[in-house]
Amino acid sequence: MASPRGEFSSRFGFVMAAAGSAVGLGNIWGFPTQAASNGGAAFLLVYLLLAFLLAYPALMAELIIGRHAHANGVTALRSISRGPQTANVGSLIGLAGIFTVSMILSFYGIVAGWMIAHFCSSLASIVGLDPLATWLVDFSFIRNVGFMGLFMFLTAAIIAEGVHDGIERWSSRLMPILIVTLFLLVGYVMTLDGAMAGLKVYLLPDFGAAVKPQLIVSALGAAFFSLSLGAGTMLIYGSYIPDEGKLPALGGWVTGVDIMIAVTAGFVVIPAMYVALNNGVEIFGADGSLISGDTLIFTVLPALFDTMGTAGVVVSLLFFALMTIAALTSSISMLEVPVSYTIENHSYSRRRAVYLIGFSIALVSTLILFNFDALFGLVIAATTRYAQPLLGLMYCLFCGWVWHRNGILEELRKGQPDIEQGLFWAVWPWYIRYVVPAIILLIFANSLLN
Ligand code: TRP
Repeated sequence: MASPRGEFSSRFGFVMAAAGSAVGLGNIWGFPTQAASNGGAAFLLVYLLLAFLLAYPALMAELIIGRHAHANGVTALRSISRGPQTANVGSLIGLAGIFTVSMILSFYGIVAGWMIAHFCSSLASIVGLDPLATWLVDFSFIRNVGFMGLFMFLTAAIIAEGVHDGIERWSSRLMPILIVTLFLLVGYVMTLDGAMAGLKVYLLPDFGAAVKPQLIVSALGAAFFSLSLGAGTMLIYGSYIPDEGKLPALGGWVTGVDIMIAVTAGFVVIPAMYVALNNGVEIFGADGSLISGDTLIFTVLPALFDTMGTAGVVVSLLFFALMTIAALTSSISMLEVPVSYTIENHSYSRRRAVYLIGFSIALVSTLILFNFDALFGLVIAATTRYAQPLLGLMYCLFCGWVWHRNGILEELRKGQPDIEQGLFWAVWPWYIRYVVPAIILLIFANSLLN
């Protein structure tokens, strides 16, 4: 029987939804440029190691807690606590996750709005509305608020439909489109002059650059952000997995798809930069490193599209559609975190919770846009550099130290009666207890010192 709080109806639906959450701006935008400027294939190796050795086990902690409780983060952490005191700590961590993910959505919505604006700009130039096309790519307050609002509305409209009809349905539609578009872009970019030079930069390993401690910190942050960890997102998606689901395999799929898309995006973005160089566009900053961040997406790539004539407009349209889709399947997973809590613990209807919370977060985004220089970078750093790894650590500690080992085993057995004989059960329980917390703390301490 389907649970009244909603659940994913198939393995495919869950993997598309959770991979949709994981695959976002972080993969397509963040990963390739970090790799290119930090040792190419060597960074890729560090990232792969961190993803499987650290992020995957941490993802499993969230999925198992969520599936066990079939409830939002606050209730879930309380339910595996041993006494009133740990239960209160659990509530606090759950609430901190809800707050963190809401703040993440507040800046994510701004960036996603830019993607839609650039998409519309390409449309406008196709139909010859050049002044509009220019206005759409100008950094004006009105444009920023308008497109952020539009993006938040799309996010809210999907979440208002619920787990099956909203999240699962839209993720299952959009993710295949995203994957096809991405591969089309790879194929096309590879045919252009200059692409091979980019491929070399992306794939030739420079181990000297990749083992720098600072780099490992950013690879950890990237891996946590990319898998949507430490904010209760994966916990809540886990809570919608039916009891028959085999959790370790499902988590493995999500991690695999996330990495695959990040690596594939590298085959678009880095070669595209060298095609741009070939066409006379500047791709290096003043310090000689590759331009990254917003300048890359909103200046270098559009300049490249401009040099490509008609094909450039089509490629630009595809690229910003890709970015918008990636952002949307991620933002719905963010909004679901506060929404599910408000529905379950404060008896709101889904619709009311969605529009109230969506609107409040859009207000925060507007506030950030008002004080862009002071707030934008601050909110990103506070949430992704500090809150996420620390909260991720807390989920691991709850799994490793607070929850009874037998409880975890029982939970895993539901979908996989023979789990005790497998490798996962042999390694994961002590791994999540000692190794993951130790590594997170080590990396975190290191980042504070720097
Ligand atoms: N993983 C997404 C990306 O790579 C972003 C994301 C979705 C996220 N849900 C999250 C980040 C929750 C942190 C917390 O863009």
